[in-house]
Amino acid sequence: MNIKKLLASCLFLLGLLSCKKEQEVAILPQIIPQPNQLEITEGAFELNPTIGIKSPTLFLGSSNYLKAFIEKGASWELNSSSEREIEFVENKNLSAEGYQLNVTPNRIVIKAATDQGAFYAVQSLRQLLPVSFENGNFNDSRTIIPCLEIIDEPRFQYRGMHLDVSRHMFPVSFIKSYIDALALLKINKFHWHLTDDQGWRIEIKKFPKLQGEAAFRDKTLKGHYNDEPVQYQNERYGGFYSQEEIREVVAYAKERHITVIPEIEMPGHAQAALSAYPELGCTGNSIETATTWGVFEDIFCSKDETFEFLEGVLDEVVELFPSEYIHIGGDEAPKTRWKACENCQKRIQEEGLKEEFELQSYFIKRIEKYLSLKGKRIIGWDEIIEGGLSPNSTVMSWRGFEGAITAAKQGNDVVMTPSSHCYFDYYQSEGSNEPTAIGGFLPLEKVYSLEPIPEELDEMDSKHILGAQGNLWTEYIPNSKQVEYMVFPRILALSEVVWTQPESKNYKEFVQRVEHFHKRLDALGIHYANHLYDIEGGLIVDEGKSVYEMKTLTNGKIIKYTLDGSSPNKESLTYGQPIPFSKDMEIHAAVFRGDEKVGSDFHQKLWSHKAVGKHIELNVSPHKAYQGSGANGLVNGIWGSSTRYGDKEWLGFWGDDLEIMINFEEETDIDSVSTRFYDGQGQWIYAPTEVIFEANGKQITYPVNGSEGVLINFKIEPKIRTTSFKLIVPNYGTIPEGKQGAGNKAWTFIDEIVVK
Ligand code: ACM
Ligand code: ZN
Repeated sequence: MNIKKLLASCLFLLGLLSCKKEQEVAILPQIIPQPNQLEITEGAFELNPTIGIKSPTLFLGSSNYLKAFIEKGASWELNSSSEREIEFVENKNLSAEGYQLNVTPNRIVIKAATDQGAFYAVQSLRQLLPVSFENGNFNDSRTIIPCLEIIDEPRFQYRGMHLDVSRHMFPVSFIKSYIDALALLKINKFHWHLTDDQGWRIEIKKFPKLQGEAAFRDKTLKGHYNDEPVQYQNERYGGFYSQEEIREVVAYAKERHITVIPEIEMPGHAQAALSAYPELGCTGNSIETATTWGVFEDIFCSKDETFEFLEGVLDEVVELFPSEYIHIGGDEAPKTRWKACENCQKRIQEEGLKEEFELQSYFIKRIEKYLSLKGKRIIGWDEIIEGGLSPNSTVMSWRGFEGAITAAKQGNDVVMTPSSHCYFDYYQSEGSNEPTAIGGFLPLEKVYSLEPIPEELDEMDSKHILGAQGNLWTEYIPNSKQVEYMVFPRILALSEVVWTQPESKNYKEFVQRVEHFHKRLDALGIHYANHLYDIEGGLIVDEGKSVYEMKTLTNGKIIKYTLDGSSPNKESLTYGQPIPFSKDMEIHAAVFRGDEKVGSDFHQKLWSHKAVGKHIELNVSPHKAYQGSGANGLVNGIWGSSTRYGDKEWLGFWGDDLEIMINFEEETDIDSVSTRFYDGQGQWIYAPTEVIFEANGKQITYPVNGSEGVLINFKIEPKIRTTSFKLIVPNYGTIPEGKQGAGNKAWTFIDEIVVK
């Protein structure tokens, strides 16, 4: 955008405006996701009740939506025969989801090829109006929209958001408001995770015990799964969506150009279904709907009865959901039961399969064939690649990017949902008062940084990346308000990842729009997490000197801080230059707008030790999703968070044996070396069992013990004099049967290496 032109027209607009604060908000276009082409032109359009809306029947859905939005927002009645109008015009040359929005002083013209394109124009126009239109509180007789021209279409065709309703369930009224909010962001897929171990949530008339029994559990884990001992809420929990409710949701979403993709999990995550129909498991033993979180060994048996059951379920599912895609799960299916099952072993023999992974592939392909007869395609989690992938299935790559690369290179379509960037059940801030989350750390900026096309793919293979999706698993999310808290504003970042071309993305500029968008969320009554006024800090080492730098991203704010342990107030030091670090120090800081503290207190301890700022080298790079602030982050005097292993102080390695070399450049006395590992087994993070210390040509092996929940402390006292040493950290190896993540490579997460 031409900035001079922009400023000129803003000044012009200011002249036009009365001094109402409400209207000033509408001056600068603050649209999320950022349109791909936006030019501010001269002048403004005055919106008032005298305008009319004109539309061919093709766009009646969108034009009525806009009319209702304006009329409800301002309690106006628009004049249908007005000369000054908002006009919808068909333009077949535009892409199916593309649109043009042209605001001139006398007219607003929306051009699109489909009602979906027109709907997206309306969502952009909506965001040019004062936020009080969102809740019917606009109480003036006019407002002003800046003249502009937007030419826009999405970067990706699949723009998704998911919701797990098995671990916790949410009312239909909430599902609808969720869909409304997704529509505002031009999200076009709602992935409804309807079945899992902890509850079956879709009515299936042929198998009434699904809604009668599998939809309920006797109790629910309270606190965190890693707590010892675990605690329970001893209350029956459950429910399901009736077919009528499902039809209602699907129709509601369709009006907002959102396709609902149902997920029916198989062969794993099936314990709820098996609690009602134990004969479909390998053992036939009676089991209960799961009451805790994790991965369970009782999965669907591969005998014919199971397929008859699943086909019966899917017959009803395909009738309810017009979506071309049906999600069949496919993730986290331990093979323990299959290995010991006569029926499954017979199936392996008869079908000439090599082992249980090929049996899983057989299972998925058989279901795929059944669904394709009904005109449907399957999506599955990336485990469906194992044992052989059929050409028509689409892969949801969640365990990183590798699944996506393999699938796309084989010619399969892919949706990106790497947990590192798309799992909104992870913590979003380092603050200590966040609600308990599963773990991990996924701040807004990391979501925004996702590039859905892995660099390993060439142009041809890249075409198989259909888009990306945010996932919300709800083990730790008991109610609708907390769903909103975890999803907003991270879905704003994801909406821009999937809509906006990389050259039009800019995080700093995005954050300013988020700050404004928060007001829209306020008006909508959406309970979002506001971490815009959190401070980002980091150590910078330059020529052996270390300084601590702090940043705040939104315009017009300052940072105030103290070094004496007190909470900063308006009299505290104003941060200007990075703070020198040479001895133990404790920084307390907060973001201020003038004298007003707008953010919560930020607290950082820096520990001085002999390795701070020293040369460090790793034999392998950390996994690209967990590279924190790089190797230097292991010797910067800052411990990682004790719950968020994905913050910038922890480094994560997937399956690699790690060698860490620290060089002091001069002879140094070393009394002790300590560090800590993360041991979040639910996330497949396993601490090493031993570490080898190497210095002066000698190696000593030390066992790793010293557990503090998920934190495994490691400390040795070699008491030597050396110029350098190496820590060898062997990976835990392939996760054995019976443990979380069995069959997968284990992750190693390591924190600060303190040398005294
Ligand atoms: C998953 O998170 N198990 C797909
Ligand atoms: Zn079996």
